[in-house]
Parts: sequence; C-alpha cells; structure tokens
Amino acid sequence: MADWSDFIQQIKSQNDIVDVIGSYLELRRSGANFMARCPFHGEKTPSFNVNRNMQIYKCFGCGESGDVIKFVEKYESCSFTEACEILAKRAGIPMPQTSSNRDDAQFRERKKKRDLYLAICRETARFYYRAYYSDVGKVAREYIAKRGFDEATVKKFGIGYSPDGTSLADHLKGKGYNAEDCVACGVLQKTTRGNLDALNRRLVIPIFNMQGQVIAFGGRGLDEYTISRGKYKNTSETPLFTKKDNLFAINIAKEQKQQTALPHLVVVEGYMDVIAMYQAGFKGAVASMGTSLTEQQAKWLSRLADTVYICYDGDAAGQKATVRGMDILDRAGLEVRVMTVPEKLDPDEYIKKYGGEAFEKLIEQAMPLPDYKLQLLERAFPINSSDASQRNNALPKYVKGALTMLKSLDDVRQARYITQVSLKTGYSEDFLRRKLSENEEELPQIFGEELSQEEKAKYFVAACVLRGEDYASLEEKPICNSAFLSALYDYLLDCLSNGDKPSVDMMYTVCPDASPEQYGKILDVNLSAERREVNERYFAECKRLITVEKLKRKREELMQKIKENPDDAELLAQLGELSRKITNAN
Ligand code: GTP
Ligand code: MN
Repeated sequence: MADWSDFIQQIKSQNDIVDVIGSYLELRRSGANFMARCPFHGEKTPSFNVNRNMQIYKCFGCGESGDVIKFVEKYESCSFTEACEILAKRAGIPMPQTSSNRDDAQFRERKKKRDLYLAICRETARFYYRAYYSDVGKVAREYIAKRGFDEATVKKFGIGYSPDGTSLADHLKGKGYNAEDCVACGVLQKTTRGNLDALNRRLVIPIFNMQGQVIAFGGRGLDEYTISRGKYKNTSETPLFTKKDNLFAINIAKEQKQQTALPHLVVVEGYMDVIAMYQAGFKGAVASMGTSLTEQQAKWLSRLADTVYICYDGDAAGQKATVRGMDILDRAGLEVRVMTVPEKLDPDEYIKKYGGEAFEKLIEQAMPLPDYKLQLLERAFPINSSDASQRNNALPKYVKGALTMLKSLDDVRQARYITQVSLKTGYSEDFLRRKLSENEEELPQIFGEELSQEEKAKYFVAACVLRGEDYASLEEKPICNSAFLSALYDYLLDCLSNGDKPSVDMMYTVCPDASPEQYGKILDVNLSAERREVNERYFAECKRLITVEKLKRKREELMQKIKENPDDAELLAQLGELSRKITNAN
C-alpha cells in the first residue's frame, strides 16, 4: 500500500455506498436515488437520500451528509480509522501499517489474547445468565422482582447470577479454557483455596464495550454477608477493562442512537439507576461506575450525543473531582447540564417514587454547567447572606471563584455570564473584564489549592511533554517528591533522548500504581488549540520554577557542606557560581 490516501480511495471504490448503507438500513429506490428513514435524527417519513453516482448520502431533514466512511463513522459511533477498518475488512483489503497495527509477533500475540479473553467473558456471561434462570437463581429473580424490574429489562441487560464460588471455574475448565487466562480476564480470582468465582453469590451485571462485547462484570451482593464485603464488586481491571475508560450501558445507548437518534445522554452513578431508567423509557443512560469522568469517557459520550445530563447524588455532585469530570466533558465539546434530584434520592428511587414523567421534568430543569458552578460557589460563599459581615467576607472569594469559572468559557458564553456575575456581585462588567485579562498568567486552577506552585509546574510540564505539545522541550529531571512524577519524568526523558514520541497510554504502564487523581492532573490540563498561546507562556514559566527549585536545593546542599568544611575555597567558589545562576533565573 503506497499510503493512506491510496488506501482510502481503494476502500471507497470497493465499498459501494448503497450496498453498505443497505446493510444497515432499509433502502427504497426512488428514481435514480435510494431513500431511507434517517438514522441520525428521529423521523417517520424518509428524508435520507443515498446517491449511487456520487457515492454520497444526505438527509434533507437534519442536513447530515457525507461519503461511505463518514456514514460508518457516524452510524457505528467510531473513529475515522475504525470506520476505515470496518470497510477494509468488508472488502477484504489489508490495512496500511500504522504504529498501532504493526504486523509484528507481539501485536498478533496481543490480539490473540484479547480475542481469547473476550471469548471467556462471553462464556461467563452465558453461564451466569443460565444460573439466573435455574433453581439456585431463585434468590436473584426474587430480588429483581422486589426491585420492580421486569423480564424484558433483565434480558436486555443480560443480568445473571453467580451460584457459588466454584461452578464457574468448573464450567470454564470444561469449555477448555485454562485457569490462568480466566484469572487474567478477571472472571476468576486467585485465592489460597484455588481459583474462585470473583462474584460468588452475587447478582451479576455484565459490562459491555462500545462494540457490544462483554468485557467485565459488576456483582451486587444480595445477602448480608456478601454485602458486608462490598455492596458491589467489579471483576478486576484487565487488558479488556479499566473502569475509567468505560461506561456501563454505553452499548445500549449506542444501539438506541442507531434506532432513533438520541436526544441526549444522562450520566448517572449506579448500575441500578441505568436499569431503572431504561425500564422507564430513558434509554440513553450510562453509569460511570463510581469514578470521576475521564477524557476517554468524554470521547465515547461525544460520539453519541451533543448534550449530556449529569445526574449524581447530592453528596458526589459538589465534589471537586466531580466538577472536574464535568469540565472534561465540557472541553470535549459536549453541552453539560447538571440535574438535581430532590430528597437525596437516586434516579432509581426517584422514578419508583414519582414516576418517569416527574423524572423527565428533572431533566428539563437541569442547569447549564456555568450556572451550576456559580450555584456551588454561592453555597460555599454566601454573598446573599442576611448577615452583613458574612456577606462581605464571602464576596471577594466568590468573585475570585467566578473569575476562574469565567476564564474557562468561550467568548460568547463569557459575555453572557459576565453580565450575570456582575448582577450578582455588584461589580461592574468592566471591572470583571479587566480582572479576567490580568489573571491570565495564573497557573491552571484544575490542580487545586493543595499543591505548591512548583508541584503544579511539574505536572503541567509533564502533561505538555507527554501529550506532544510542539513547544514542550525537556532537558532535566525536576526534584520529584512522588514516585509517580519520578517515573513519568524518567520515561519522558528516555523518550526524548531516543527521539521517540511519548505516548499518553504509556503513563499507565510506567507508573501503574499512581492514583486516579495523579493521572487526572496530567489528563485534565487543557491543551486545546485556543489556549495554546497561554499554555506556551505557562510552560516557560513552569520550567523556570522547576530550574530555580533545583538550583536552590543544590545551594542548600552546598551550604551544608560548607558548614562542615568552612575553609574549602572550591566549595565557596561553587556557591558564588550557584547564587549567580539563581539570580539570573529569578
Ligand atoms: P443500589 O443500592 O443497588 O440501588 O445501588 P446503586 O446503583 O444505587 O449504587 P450506589 O449509588 O450505592 O453506588 C453507585 C455505584 O458505585 C454502583 O452502581 C457501583 O458501580 C459503585 N459502587 C457502589 N458501592 C460499591 C462497592 O462497595 N464496591 C464497588 N466496587 N463499587 C461500588
Ligand atoms: Mn440505588
């Protein structure tokens, strides 16, 4: 294959658009063209037009149009490359070589393992499903009935039951899978008593990826003993599944989008919330499984809809990590709205108590993200308190927070919210605008208040280098107080000295033990194109901070030595040199 553009020509010429779309939708001939009901917006009469001569499609209802690759991209909610892969496979054309599909032994080996793990997960799901309907599954069926879920819902989600600690292992062994592989894909757990079912006697909720493959399981405890060891338990993180990269029920949302075009998505916390919502007719609900939202999850969501409603428990909703997750969605271009469920109920409980229509109202009343942030600020800093001294105390803090919020907005929204903040605080719009441009050089707020300037600088520099910003050079390793930063910088310097491009994914490999917050500090840095200029300046400033810190540390060490050998002229000369460097750098 000469190159990608030849390859793309080839897949387009060997995948007739009418054949491809015809395999997804019911096409009807209409003159020289073909018509269908548009899969990208809900409609009753067909206005989706496919033109064979020009090899394009266009919907006269919603305006969506493109070629065969674009169609697959939209319909499968996948990336351009993945769409090419699907079409190449369909036409029997080999993919051109890229770094991620190199036809080397290691890649083939990984692919083979992945397919094996997927097969084991699928077989495990079948096993649990059968157990659910068997005699031992009665307890699970009763539980489901008690929660008010019906048969169709249970089937839709593929809910199952783990009968005991050992049957699954026996079953998988009987199917010819070896225990090591079953442990590696999470369904069995290595213990001193052998390899046991990870979800022993729990109600089982399979977790699927965007392609509809089972990749992991969640298990809900049904009896007191099991619950005492965690109300829920997930199968472990594996090559197929990491919590932070997946969303429960994303497969169902995708399927829904293919059938009727989704109006929006709702992100909730729990499995049961998603399931209850589905049964009540809200079919675009996904759950984040108890972690804060990540860039990868934002990518999945933005492929399916433009607007995302966040429906979290009151306790979780205000937390820094949660708001950070919402910012990630916002930066991915999604319109974020925050729901409030009264009485501290979760969506499942609320729907049970008040019904689906009432829940629909909550969706309608959801707040745009900036309003929500202002509401949180006001809760923390009561600028409308009846107590005057409390009010005066709160005002500067509120304004500071509001400025930070305003700064993250694009021009249009900023203009609107400056007016709002001005009205709320009594500060003139002019004053707020001036403050906004003054504050520009401040380091990104996402790092939180708890870190020193130097620590923030280290995360920022690492993020820019790791994510391949073209201005991001790196010559020396900073003083690293955490194993995470230390390992990350070693990796980055290693890459640069070998002339390799760092890869974000490698972060998890070289620093496997870091916390989600630590990874978050790298991933959350906003490196979007419109911030480029500011970021470039931050970057220079951060490197200066790092250098000064190192020089100062050296000076301390040198002073210590001088204390021990006060007459050493060499040391004194070094100290003079170092002090000069510090002055220069400052
Ligand atoms: P129900 O009590 O069954 O209604 O659960 P829920 O869906 O309302 O879940 P909850 O709000 O208690 O928790 C939200 C989500 O966090 C769950 O769906 C799980 O994904 C996760 N979670 C909750 N508790 C645990 C736990 O003990 N262990 C693990 N691994 N995850 C949990
Ligand atoms: Mn619940």
